[in-house]
Amino acid sequence: MRILLLASAFNSLSQRLHAELRDRRHTVDFQLAGDDDELVDAVDRLRPDLVLAPMLRTAIPQDVWSEFTCLIVHPGPPGDRGPSSLDRAIQDGRTEWGVTVLQAEAEMDAGPVWAWAPCRLPARGKSDLYRNEVSDAAVAATLLAVERVASGAYVPQPQHGPGWREAVRTRPFLRQQERRIDWAGDSTEAVLRRLRAADSQPGVLDTLCGGEWYLHGGHREPVLRGRPGELLATRAGAVCRATPDGAVWIPELRRRRTPGGPATFKLPAVTALGALLPPLPEAAAPLVPGEHEGPAWSDIRYREDGPVGFLRFSFPGGAMSTDHCRRLLAAYRFAAARPTSVLVLGGGRDFFSNGIHLNVIEAAPDQAAESWANITAMDDLVGEVLTTTDRLVVAAVAGNAAAGGVMLALAADEVWCRGGSVLNPHYRLMGLYGSEYWTYTLPRRVGAAAAERLTRQALPVSASAAERTGLVDRVLDCGPEEFGPSAARLAGLLAASPATQHRITAKKAAREADERAKPLDAYREEELAVMRRQFFTPESPYHALRSAFVRKCPAPAGPAART
Ligand code: COA
Repeated sequence: MRILLLASAFNSLSQRLHAELRDRRHTVDFQLAGDDDELVDAVDRLRPDLVLAPMLRTAIPQDVWSEFTCLIVHPGPPGDRGPSSLDRAIQDGRTEWGVTVLQAEAEMDAGPVWAWAPCRLPARGKSDLYRNEVSDAAVAATLLAVERVASGAYVPQPQHGPGWREAVRTRPFLRQQERRIDWAGDSTEAVLRRLRAADSQPGVLDTLCGGEWYLHGGHREPVLRGRPGELLATRAGAVCRATPDGAVWIPELRRRRTPGGPATFKLPAVTALGALLPPLPEAAAPLVPGEHEGPAWSDIRYREDGPVGFLRFSFPGGAMSTDHCRRLLAAYRFAAARPTSVLVLGGGRDFFSNGIHLNVIEAAPDQAAESWANITAMDDLVGEVLTTTDRLVVAAVAGNAAAGGVMLALAADEVWCRGGSVLNPHYRLMGLYGSEYWTYTLPRRVGAAAAERLTRQALPVSASAAERTGLVDRVLDCGPEEFGPSAARLAGLLAASPATQHRITAKKAAREADERAKPLDAYREEELAVMRRQFFTPESPYHALRSAFVRKCPAPAGPAART
């Protein structure tokens, strides 16, 4: 079929559907929502069999839905209506939810249902759930709906009359007043639910250190205690704040925008507060937690299971600042000195990595210098992975990855990703040439022609397409919560395989041969020579694109803009 994807942003779910529908040989076009005239022109020109809206903040005009079948993906089960479905489900503590694909009509979310799929809601942030459990359910329901439309024989179920069993509930937009945290009265669990329901957007508006801030992200602290609302400690850029029965870690803050003032953006909490932060102890979490230690939050963790080491890391939005890269490199060096034969990188949930931290760079006094510091710190990390020759390294890509984050994974000997992952192996959207030794690793995996195509077209790649083209080695078809345990089990089998020692020996020889053909340093220098120009030329598109990206200003983000 010819399918027109219509969305308010080419976001994770739109990218995944774009990739999955193309994999199924549908012809897929993308249209950014917001301008009704443009949409009418697009449907007149393309005459799609179906308009599919995975994420829409505006209504579809009547001239379009009355002439073309238009399906809306609603992140709630049948009967649920309203613009803050998922936020409310999380804030209410729901553990089971669903996604419904319904036909667009005059009344929002009231059209007949073409398909739906249930999903679980584990205690995770909204955007993480959206990119994972909700996205899996959305893809399942959408593909079923597309099949039903294609069959021409299916009659969608109206939300009333015979056969309709669900209660219809329209719930309003979740405003900041309803998200507000009462630090003196709300339990840790209630605070975490509020933070998760607003993570990563819009955050929970609050006052802190004499200013108004949106709080982003939240993790339970098992030990530290204090006066409710008081800041207790810092850890890896996050601040810890006391509740009546515990404390929570808040990794990121965004200053409230002043009326008429410039757009603000998220930063690690300690960076955002800067001089406003009172003196606090840095309660660093040990890289290797003790056996009887509680589940303390940390963004980098190491553990071992016999011959397999697991270096887990998880940074908000997958963004890796200079500090993140340096801390991860130190942890990697520790892990690579342990007596293991397989080292697994990543493997938690959600984003693997999205490359250098554009927000931290944007906030730096010298953005070019910070870009340079960040990319060289990233290169140091990737270089260390590439030159590990005494064990096998596996990149366990639980969620999406982009730009330098994909290239970090490609430095490993094997790349495993979850079936729902979407990869963006290119830098073009940020106007960058890229580094992270991609000129060595990408062609080595997919061949020179495919590497050129992937970086030029700048299209998202589904997990199965990535496996077909050799970008990844293995796809784990499992749910987001099962990915870590499944990867761990497979890593155990890999370490136990008699072939592994031979592979390690062969790997060392192959690296030495590659080094003789062209040293890794030469790849790095060539890439960085271009990046240096892009960073230190004030007029280079990178600076404007980065500024727009961090402030969420509209930029030509759809695939149409990329070819
Ligand atoms: N630096 C800082 N923040 C980043 C980031 C980066 N490199 N990459 C992603 N993020 C943040 C986004 O701002 C967003 O924040 P929010 O949740 O507060 O809105 C969040 O991570 C998720 O990203 P989003 O763009 O909403 O997800 P998506 O699925 O629609 O798109 C990408 C994913 C990776 C394609 C897109 O985020 C992107 O192009 N990132 C930049 C990649 C890059 O160029 N890196 C630098 C070169 S190495």
